[in-house]
Amino acid sequence: MRGQVVVTRIELADAQPLRIAVLRRGTPAKTAVYDGDEHPDTVHIGARADGADGAVIATSTWIRAPWHESPAEPAVQLRGMAVDDSLQGTGVGRKLIEAGIDHARTLGARFVWAKARDSALDFYLRCGFRVVGEQFMEPASGMPHHLVVRELAE
Ligand SMILES: CC(C)(COP(=O)(O)OP(=O)(O)OC[C@H]1O[C@@H](n2cnc3c(N)ncnc32)[C@H](O)[C@@H]1OP(=O)(O)O)[C@@H](O)C(=O)NCCC(=O)NCCS
Repeated sequence: MRGQVVVTRIELADAQPLRIAVLRRGTPAKTAVYDGDEHPDTVHIGARADGADGAVIATSTWIRAPWHESPAEPAVQLRGMAVDDSLQGTGVGRKLIEAGIDHARTLGARFVWAKARDSALDFYLRCGFRVVGEQFMEPASGMPHHLVVRELAE
């Protein structure tokens, strides 16, 4: 039986295998490296099974990047959101979102946004995001996406 799931900062090197396992299955791109991955303001927030030393079972990356509708205001883009298949639907993703939003607030962000796969759109809606604009195809995955944004109170 799995032990406690711990939400924690993780290293980029720990994020990448899970990104590839979950987000690059059957997709045109086989790697998952993002602009800003190594920027000092970027954080990788994940979850470990079985306590702080356990295997990484969820990952998310939070990168400073302007929200196009309000480019002068501080904003953070969420990228590489992935939960291990065996733990999807158990509340881990929502915990990562809340931890990432807390981080975005420390940077003074007014917006957190993402390019959401349509297959995960309801997850973002359940987590307080709203959909903006039309559907688009994202080349790395070859999947339909929408922009989603969550506004943070001042
Ligand atoms: C999408 C993903 C990150 C969500 O994380 P998760 O841990 O499975 O989600 P949670 O268990 O925290 O779910 C939170 C809520 O969203 C809903 N939800 C989660 N995934 C969903 C999905 N794919 N479609 C519809 N609703 C979803 C849950 O039912 C739950 O609803 P509730 O508010 O009624 O409880 C995860 O399922 C995943 O990694 N999926 C495959 C990769 C992917 O699509 N990543 C996103 C790329 S943009």
